[in-house]
Amino acid sequence: MSCRGKVMRPQDIQSVQQSFAGIFARKADLAERFYVHLYTRLPEARRLFRNDFVKQKSMLTAMVAACVKNLDDRQALGELATQLLGTHAHLGLGARETEAAKRSLIAALRDILGADLDPETEAAWSRAISLVAGTMTRH
Ligand code: HEM
Repeated sequence: MSCRGKVMRPQDIQSVQQSFAGIFARKADLAERFYVHLYTRLPEARRLFRNDFVKQKSMLTAMVAACVKNLDDRQALGELATQLLGTHAHLGLGARETEAAKRSLIAALRDILGADLDPETEAAWSRAISLVAGTMTRH
């Protein structure tokens, strides 16, 4: 698991948790923007989704919320990462798709947070996403 050996600095965890708390009420918009950016970067990804889109969006935000909440709990984060790896394993995602997902989530956060996504907060989110999303590819 890519969580091994990696930890986040307390100030990064706080910054991610605070910014997410501020947009929690708009989490459906965040998911909407995530998929807009993902499909722009990976047009072929669109046909992989079989679930109802409303359900898909709520599963995405539930996963993001769980990861954000557990950034300081390596065991819980490792379990979430294993879960993510499991649900994506059959898709054969590689580095390109993982990178697209990271960029799409940052872009979605920018759409919702605007100027509140200052460079420090963005860097903290990037570290958090790398910590968890690195595990969507087998390595
Ligand atoms: C930030 C990165 C990502 C997160 C947090 C994420 C999260 C999730 C979650 C929570 C589910 C639902 C799992 C379940 O059914 O319980 C899911 C399903 C799925 N994800 Fe992702 N995902 C990410 C990136 C991607 C990428 C990059 C792709 C494709 C290129 C992708 C394709 C899919 C597909 C197709 C499903 C549905 C699987 C199925 O029903 O067969 N995901 N994702």
